[in-house]
Amino acid sequence: MNSKDRPIGVFDSGVGGLTVVSKLRMLLPHENIIYVGDTKRNPYGSRTPEEILTYTRDILRFMTAHDVKLVAIGCNTATAVAYDTVKNEVPYPLIGMSRGIRTASEISTTKKIAVFATDLTIANHSHRKVAAAMDPQIEIVEQACPALANLVERGILSGEEVMAPLRQYTAPVLASGADTAIFGCTHFPFLQPLFEELCGDTIAFVDPAHEMALQTLEVLKKDGILNTSPEPGYLKLCFTAEAARGGLLASHLIPANEFTTETISFTS
Ligand code: DGL
Repeated sequence: MNSKDRPIGVFDSGVGGLTVVSKLRMLLPHENIIYVGDTKRNPYGSRTPEEILTYTRDILRFMTAHDVKLVAIGCNTATAVAYDTVKNEVPYPLIGMSRGIRTASEISTTKKIAVFATDLTIANHSHRKVAAAMDPQIEIVEQACPALANLVERGILSGEEVMAPLRQYTAPVLASGADTAIFGCTHFPFLQPLFEELCGDTIAFVDPAHEMALQTLEVLKKDGILNTSPEPGYLKLCFTAEAARGGLLASHLIPANEFTTETISFTS
């Protein structure tokens, strides 16, 4: 296959990375995309770093077997824990999930930026490290949100079951004086209207998927592998469990006639 026609791989612990896929499709409508959502082993945020590394390698083996030309990690947790270790293990460019610090620092006037993320991403202080390297003036307010990814996976996107933990997670951030917040977990943009209902008057929200799509475009151009076909790209959604539910959640973001779903398993 022409190297430009080869698909881009995107993966996450489950449906979260679909928020990245939807931004990629807006910016790169001619790219073919293979998505892996590891719904069988979700959530990653409460797993050990060793488990995340094993899962990431399983998925990258699958991507390599499917002859991808690039992989964009649609998961902050896998990026924080596994990216540095695996980036040189694959024969194609591997892009870690953007942290969104650049966009957030352009918006923030107080330079106090909150990050909502999984336990593991917060324990890794990954946004704090990126911010310190970019601008030492930025103060990162870290907020773990352990219940949210699983609620999104189950399709619970409204109601008290999700509002109660959200109130608990947003209260300290509201009290901190942060004026901007980053979705540091790719599941959370599914809940953006609820986050905004609780803090929209004082906090602007940043979905780093946009930065991620721009970064992917840059790498494709630099490596001369941008798909120049005039046809719309295909989108294949592969889940390790509950593919039908994955497809249903995907249809919140992408028209259902634009993708196919299937169940996969890894042989290792
Ligand atoms: N969506 C993932 C992230 O961005 C992981 C959520 C989870 O499985 O805990 O971190």
